[in-house]
Formats: sequence, C-alpha cells, structure tokens
Amino acid sequence: MEKNIDRRTFLSYIGTGAAALAAASAGLGTLEGKASAMSPTADHLFGFGTNKVSGYFEPIEASKEDELILPRGFKYDVVAAFDDVINSAGEKFGQAADYNAFFPINGSNTRGLLATNHEYSLIFSIGPVKDGKLTKEQIEKDLYYQGMSVIEVFLDETGTWKMDTTSKYARRINGFTKFELTGPAKGITALNGATTVQGTFANCSGGVTLWNTVLSCEENFSETAESAGLPQTHYGWVIEVDPFDGTFLKKHTALGRFNHENTAMGIAKDGRVVVYMGDDKKDACVYKFVSKHKYEPSLGRGNSALLSEGTLYVANLKSGKWVPVTIEAVTKALDNEKFKNPAGVSGKREELQKKFQTQGDIVTYCHEAALILGGTPTDRPEDIEISPFDNTVFICHTNNDTHGNIHGHITRIFELDNDLGATEFDFEIFAAGGRQSGFSSPDNLAFDSNGNLWVVTDISTSSHNKGVYKSFMNNGLFVIPTIGQGKGVAMQFASAPKESELTGPFFTPNEQTLFLSIQHPGELTTDLAKPTGMWPHRKGDTIPRCGVVAISGFKLG
Ligand code: FEO
Ligand code: CA
Ligand code: CA
Ligand code: CA
Repeated sequence: MEKNIDRRTFLSYIGTGAAALAAASAGLGTLEGKASAMSPTADHLFGFGTNKVSGYFEPIEASKEDELILPRGFKYDVVAAFDDVINSAGEKFGQAADYNAFFPINGSNTRGLLATNHEYSLIFSIGPVKDGKLTKEQIEKDLYYQGMSVIEVFLDETGTWKMDTTSKYARRINGFTKFELTGPAKGITALNGATTVQGTFANCSGGVTLWNTVLSCEENFSETAESAGLPQTHYGWVIEVDPFDGTFLKKHTALGRFNHENTAMGIAKDGRVVVYMGDDKKDACVYKFVSKHKYEPSLGRGNSALLSEGTLYVANLKSGKWVPVTIEAVTKALDNEKFKNPAGVSGKREELQKKFQTQGDIVTYCHEAALILGGTPTDRPEDIEISPFDNTVFICHTNNDTHGNIHGHITRIFELDNDLGATEFDFEIFAAGGRQSGFSSPDNLAFDSNGNLWVVTDISTSSHNKGVYKSFMNNGLFVIPTIGQGKGVAMQFASAPKESELTGPFFTPNEQTLFLSIQHPGELTTDLAKPTGMWPHRKGDTIPRCGVVAISGFKLG
C-alpha cells in the first residue's frame, strides 16, 4: 500500500511538465535541429521539451486474468486481429503480431498507416503439426501468415480506432514477397549467388528510419526456412520497407545476419547514420552499424543507400570498445597459429579460414566472426533504444538462465562524448528485473517525450505463474523514468491476457494513442477445440487471436 502512495507522489512529480524536464536534462547532450530533419514518424522520438504524455496514471497490480488490463481512465480498441481481412484484395492480417510503427497520412495523428510485424506461426494459423513435420498446405500458411502487414487505421467520430479496409496502401509482405539484397553479401557464394531472395519471416521487432521507412528484423528464421526448403543464408537479415510504396523492398546485408531483434537509428556527430542492433540469443552480442557516408535530408528515401556501406561494430563490454567486424581482422586472428576457439565458435582453424574469405562471409556468419574478435557474449540482447534526451543507449537483456540471470536487466551505454559514432563507451545496469523492481524479462522498449521508457516483458509462457516467476503473473507493460526523482522505478501500466506477451509499443506523434500488439494469447493450446485462452473474446470466435490495440486516455500534463 505504502508503495502505491509513494508512486502517486512521484507521478505528480513527473507530471509537472516540460520545465522540470528541461531542467533535469540540462547539460546533457543536445539534439537540436534533429527533429526537423526527420519524418513525422521518427520526430516524436526527438520531441523533448514537451509534456505530451503526462505521468498521470495509477499503476496497476500484476494479474492472471485473460484480459488486457489498463489503468483507470484508459481504454483500448482492437484495430486488427489475426486473419482479419485488411484490403479489397482480401488479404489477411498475419499471426503473432510484434513490432508496430505508425506513419501519419498528411501529418494526421488520427489517420495513418500501421506497419506491423508477424513473427511466427501458432496452432491457430497452421493447425496441429504431426510428428514435427509441416504438410505442403501448412508450409504455405506458415509463409503466408508471417512477415508484415501494412494497414490503414483511423480514429472515427465516436473515438474508436478502426482499420480502413478500402485503403490503397494496405497489403501483406510475407514469405512469398521478393526482396532485393544490398551490401557485401549480395551475390556471394554463401548465398548461392543470389541478388534477390524469396520472402521474409520471423519478423520480430524493428525500427523507423530518418527517411520515413520501416526496418523489420528477421529473428528466429531457421525452422521456417528449413521446412520450406529455403536457403538459411537468405534469412536473418534486416529488411527495409516503404509503407507508402509497395515496390520498395530491401534486405540490407551490411547490417549483419543473426537473430535480429530490432534496430535503433540515430546520427553520429559527423552526420553518419548509426544503427544499434541486438542478437536475441543466449550469449550473443550487441552491434552497431555506422554508415560510410553522411545523412543528407534532401535525399529523402535515397538515404537508404547508407545502409549498404559502412562499418559493423560489436561491443566488447570489458574494454569499453566497439570492435570493427571486418574480414581483415578475422583473417589476422585466424592466421595466428596459436588461435583458440572462443566459446560459441566451433570448427578447426583451417575450416574457419575457408568459411571467412570475404566481408560478405563475415556479415553472413556474423555471430561467430564477432566472437572471434572479442565481442562480449551477453544475456539475450533484445530491443535497443537511443534516449532522445542524452544519446545514451538502452538495451534490454531479457534473461539468460544458463548463468543465473533469471529476470534480466536493462543496460545503459554511455558513448564517449555522447557521440553515437564513438568507438569507446562505458555502461551501467540501469534497471534490473526481479522482485525488488516488480518486472522480469524486459523485451521491447519505447521512449515518450517525458523521458520515460515504456518496457514490455517477455516471461516465456511455460514459466508463467510458476516458481520464481509467480509474483509477476502475466506479462506486462511498465513505465520507467530515465531522469528525475523516480529514475529507474518501474510502474505497471498494462497486464497482458493469459499466455500472451505485449510487443511493439509505438506512440502516435502527439502521444495520445499507443499502439501495442498482443502476441500469442492462449499460446499453450494443443487442441483447437479446447483453447487455453480466448482474448480478444470476440463474439462467435472459437479461438484466441493475436492482434494490435490502440490505447487511448492519455491526458495532457
Ligand atoms: Fe522475437 Fe527476441 O523476441
Ligand atoms: Ca522481442
Ligand atoms: Ca522476446
Ligand atoms: Ca517476443
């Protein structure tokens, strides 16, 4: 009880507005001039000096209910759910919704395109799998329902968010869509000489670019590729899509191939574009790509070419250095007769020398190359976000039970001189999961313009309400201030439906609406006749449906 009173006092503090915030952030890195250089979609990430999201909400308690629970005064509308028709061609909304990005149409906060990722297949989209082998029909569904959806959404006159299925932009991007490769792995032997590839799947989180396109990350692609008989090396990349132009479809190999979680884009002091990325595996690394050339606002989408040439760095947390992951450095390491395989890299020295012959090979087998060069294995790096206030970089390390990090933590990187292009850094553990903080297993992140981090959690469904995860109950959405008095204190804003995970939090530019995905409700279902959850509890439904909600009720401070 006492905790709640403290929290309320604190909330009125963070609601005191822009002036307090400006004071709190004074002296930190400045970002003037950035907002105007960006698309409206990215602008809000840099919109400090405002007080759009007030801190006024009363934190909720953890819950086991099969419902999306929000604080008093907030409501949600389901804008799209699995298998809903999204356009006049009859295409359907995909499975396992994850990342969302809202793109205003003509600057509107109440009508725009929503780009949503679809991460994987569930029994509800492909049916029960016999003996672990998908039938031809199941493979087709597997490829169809993963990928992305672009849908048009709007706020109607009654204050309800809806999907506009007459939209000329609405479309699916999936395992059948053709992509053009860019960067060092284009056309190389390891990719069977391919310059274009079939499809995208396992699209987990993502990020927006400074030029109004969306990046989407291929994470756990292996099973889908294998069952469909598609080459493994064609997946595990970052793709780029223009929601307003169905012909613009790229896979940027310069950003490396691994189990990509998301991207966080910013600008170095000298104008080069920087993209932070996590590899969501146990004992995997944190990366950043720095473009060779500089960002040029007048080029608009032409800046996409920046993502095909540059330096990919891996973080060495012990030396505080960003290590360039290059063919020269790997060749040098392997030429040393005393070379010893680091943990996580198998194969004889001669085999590795054969594997790594070009920069294309380096980006294709990025995780091993990074480990050879001293990249630090970490605890499942998932979402990364750059603070719009001081250029510090927040990384969710979800958890890693192989060495006792059960509840995960959020790491904060301080780049030398607040320069995203720096090659040296320091870091701290900004917040740690566990009983003391009230959250476990942080995953996706989003900033609001008050400097609060919005954090969703990913306790795996099989652990819900068991053992040391008991007190956290269902997954949730938490708000953690990064500056001021309540820095690092987590307050629960939402509780997810049973057996689900909240993913892809994304605000409209005016921060009056928060889009959020409800991923895998009723995930433990093994018999379609007996679903273990039923969210969103639609009339007439016999199965649960993942989907995207629009949350409203935010008050101006
Ligand atoms: Fe798809 Fe790392 O979560
Ligand atoms: Ca994730
Ligand atoms: Ca996750
Ligand atoms: Ca996830």
